[in-house]
Amino acid sequence: MATQITAGVHWVGALDPDIRVFDVIMAAPHGTTYNAYLVQGGEKTALIEASKRGFEDQLFTHLEEVLDPWQVDYLVLNHTEPDHSGALPTVLERLGHPQLVCSKSARLFVSALLNHDLDPLLVGAGDTLDLGGKTLEFIPAPFLHWPDTMFTYLPEDRVLFPCDFLGAHFCDERLFNDLVESYDYQFEYYFNVIMRPFKSHVLKALDEIARREVEIICPSHGPVLRANPQAYLEKYRQWASVLPGSQKDRLLVFYASSYGNTRRLAEAISRGAEEQGARVSLLDLSSADVGALLGEIETCGGLAVGSLTINGDAVKPVWDLLSSLATLELRGRPVAAFGSYAWSGEAPRFLHQRLLDLKMKPVADPLRAHLTVDEADLQAARDLGAKLAQVMQL
Ligand code: FEO
Repeated sequence: MATQITAGVHWVGALDPDIRVFDVIMAAPHGTTYNAYLVQGGEKTALIEASKRGFEDQLFTHLEEVLDPWQVDYLVLNHTEPDHSGALPTVLERLGHPQLVCSKSARLFVSALLNHDLDPLLVGAGDTLDLGGKTLEFIPAPFLHWPDTMFTYLPEDRVLFPCDFLGAHFCDERLFNDLVESYDYQFEYYFNVIMRPFKSHVLKALDEIARREVEIICPSHGPVLRANPQAYLEKYRQWASVLPGSQKDRLLVFYASSYGNTRRLAEAISRGAEEQGARVSLLDLSSADVGALLGEIETCGGLAVGSLTINGDAVKPVWDLLSSLATLELRGRPVAAFGSYAWSGEAPRFLHQRLLDLKMKPVADPLRAHLTVDEADLQAARDLGAKLAQVMQL
C-alpha cells in the first residue's frame, strides 16, 4: 500500500520479504525493501528511485494508488546500482519517459544499464529542482557507496532521501521506525558491510547533513526514520569516527598451519614484534572467527598472514580471511606474508600479491621456510616481526 510520509510525499516502493542473501555477500534474514518516494509539488511531480528489476508491478501498484504514473515529470536516480535502477527500462516506459535526473558520475552507469545513451538532467552540489512549493536539492555523496551516489533533500518538509546511507536490509510493511520491531543490529550490519570502507566520506556527508534541518530520513532500504532521526546520524558518526589503523602498535598475526611449521614462523614473528613494543595477537585461522575480528583488523597497525602450501595454493581459511578484507579500508597498512612448504611453496607469494592488490604495504618479500623451520628461519621470522613493528609505529 502507498504510504504517506508527509503532505505531498508518499512511499511507493517495493517489499522483498523473501530475499535472504543480498548482493551475494550480505545476509538478509528479514528480507529488504526497495524504497521509492513520490514527491508532489504544485506544478511538478518527482519519483525518487526506480526499484529493482522484477519489482516494477509493486512499484506501479503503489504509484497508481496516488496518481496516474504518466503525471510523473522527473525520475530522480540517487544511485544506479541495479537494486535501485534494474527496473529502469520498464519504469521509464511505464512512466511515459519522464526527465531522468542523476549525478554526473551516474551518466555512464545509466548508459551501461540501458545499453544506449539518454540525455539525463545532470545535477551537482547546490542544484535544485522546483516542483512548485516543494524543492528538491541535490547533495553529492560520492562513495557512499558508489561514485555516483547523491542525496536528495526536500527543505520545505525537512525530509532527506539519502539513498543507501542510513538504510538497512529489513522488511516490515509497517514502514516507520517507531512502528517496526527493533532492527538496530541490521542497521549496524548494513553500515559495517556497505559504509565502513568509506568512513571519511561518511563523516563528510554527516557534516553536509548537519547544515540542514532534518526531521524525516527516507533511505532506500528499510524503515523510514521519523522518530529521533538524529540518533541514527549520531550512530553513524560514532562508528565512522573509529579510524582505520588508529591502533598503531597493534599487530595481528594470522596463520594456517598443518604440521606446526607455519605456526612456529607466526610465533617468531610475534616475538620479534613484541620485542619492538607491539601488542600482538596470534590467530589460528582454523578456529578464528574472522567476522568477529573485522573491527580489530580495521583498527590494527599491521597484519601478518601465513599459510602452508597445499596443491600449489594457500588454504581456504586464509583466502576466506583475505576476501573479507575488501570491506575494510586497509590502504597503506604494513603487512607481511609467510609460510612453510614442502615442494613448491606458492602460498606466501600468492598472499603477498593479494595483499598488494588490497593496496596494503608489504614491509618485505614473502618469507618462506622449507619444511621443518630451523634457527635461520626463526631468526628471519623474528626480524620480519621486528621490521613490521618498526614500520607500523612510524
Ligand atoms: Fe542499495 Fe548500492 O545499492
